[in-house]
Amino acid sequence: MLARRSYSKVTAETPSTEEIERLLEAAATAADHAGLAPWRVIELRGAARERLGDALAAAATAAGADADAAASQRRKPLRAELLLAVVVSYRESRKAERWEQDAAAAGVAHLLTLLLDDAGWGAMWRTGPFTRTAPVAQLHGLTVDEALLGWIYVGGRPDGARRERHATVDLAQRHTQLRIAGED
Ligand SMILES: Cc1cc2nc3c(=O)[nH]c(=O)nc-3n(C[C@H](O)[C@H](O)[C@H](O)COP(=O)(O)O)c2cc1C
Repeated sequence: MLARRSYSKVTAETPSTEEIERLLEAAATAADHAGLAPWRVIELRGAARERLGDALAAAATAAGADADAAASQRRKPLRAELLLAVVVSYRESRKAERWEQDAAAAGVAHLLTLLLDDAGWGAMWRTGPFTRTAPVAQLHGLTVDEALLGWIYVGGRPDGARRERHATVDLAQRHTQLRIAGED
């Protein structure tokens, strides 16, 4: 985990659908209140990435972007040969509210990114301002009870790609003890 890095540039090599299934089986062990499994993952390869580019460009244009900005959106999904769209699929539950289901689905996405890295692939979780727009939802076939958490871009690691150590966070700011007066 300390060695994991995101790879913004990847080669055209990709894991097979069978390998993704194997990794997802492991990622699916993420904590999940009430066992709702409120997520699904959609593989986008080949022309599906081009259609995603069209949808992003359409959403950008609808938001007032000029032709250059729309073209830039259209190119984004072409940065890898495989994109894994991570979807939160909200379930009816008296135990787990929607925000808890967001957390469970995000946990799966984090584990999947980590597992891909561990298997030697280059991966990077990406979103953007048009992730949750109608053209993009429609392309993925989302229901009204679903939302995208973004895409994990996947490919091979380029030769000579640097594998730097993560900057360490300041734990003193993020890890404290809640002390109750009178207790030692
Ligand atoms: C929900 C989510 C969305 C993200 N979207 C983007 C993105 O659109 N563009 C980007 O450069 N990084 C994005 N990131 C961050 C990268 O995945 C990555 O964590 C970051 O570049 C730091 O690199 P590292 O993972 O090697 O520390 C996103 C991360 C998360 C969790």
